[in-house]
Amino acid sequence: MMAASARPTFARPARMGPQHRRQLADHLLALDLEDRARRFMVGASDAYIERYVSGIDFDAGFVLGAFEAGQLRGVAHAASVQERSGSVLEVGLSVARASRRRGVGRELLRACLARARQSAVGHVVVLYRPDNQAMAATALSLGATPRHDDGDVRAEFAVPARTSAAGP
Ligand SMILES: CC(C)(COP(=O)(O)OP(=O)(O)OC[C@H]1O[C@@H](n2cnc3c(N)ncnc32)[C@H](O)[C@@H]1OP(=O)(O)O)[C@@H](O)C(=O)NCCC(=O)NCCS
Repeated sequence: MMAASARPTFARPARMGPQHRRQLADHLLALDLEDRARRFMVGASDAYIERYVSGIDFDAGFVLGAFEAGQLRGVAHAASVQERSGSVLEVGLSVARASRRRGVGRELLRACLARARQSAVGHVVVLYRPDNQAMAATALSLGATPRHDDGDVRAEFAVPARTSAAGP
């Protein structure tokens, strides 16, 4: 029988908007330097994070939050990026240290994939460093194809396009 403490206490990932910028910044600012480097692939200063959050375009992609008892504990930012092959959704994930290894990261990424499936986006990608075992396990558990890309790893998810009656 599952122990009471093992039951998930997180609400389903919820869509966030411009009114949540302060909460988003506080969540990211609470990451230590190592986690910031894993999340942003650069050493992200406080000023960098503030600029990043100010610059989020909530119309070009979406942001999902994982809440526990009303507290923001995890974030997925899916940004629409134009690549040579077309438009992809690039997802950045972060979970507060105290909330890790409880399935929050996977639920956030799963929710991003589900949203992408409902839209016309054909591909979702997550970039991470080769030594990021947590992100590698999270991506692989959801069926990603990882490729080495200029010293980093690019995990790709093919998201089946909706059938359309329209011609090419
Ligand atoms: C990557 C991250 C989002 C994972 O979040 P999480 O909520 O701890 O992950 P989950 O609990 O959903 O675990 C998903 C899988 O990863 C595995 N995992 C989690 N942390 C791990 C670790 N430190 N080492 C090895 N595997 C790990 C889990 O066991 C699980 O795999 P399984 O299905 O084989 O059991 C989190 O570690 C984080 O915020 N890291 C800092 C930011 C970052 O690296 N972002 C990624 C680049 S955008």
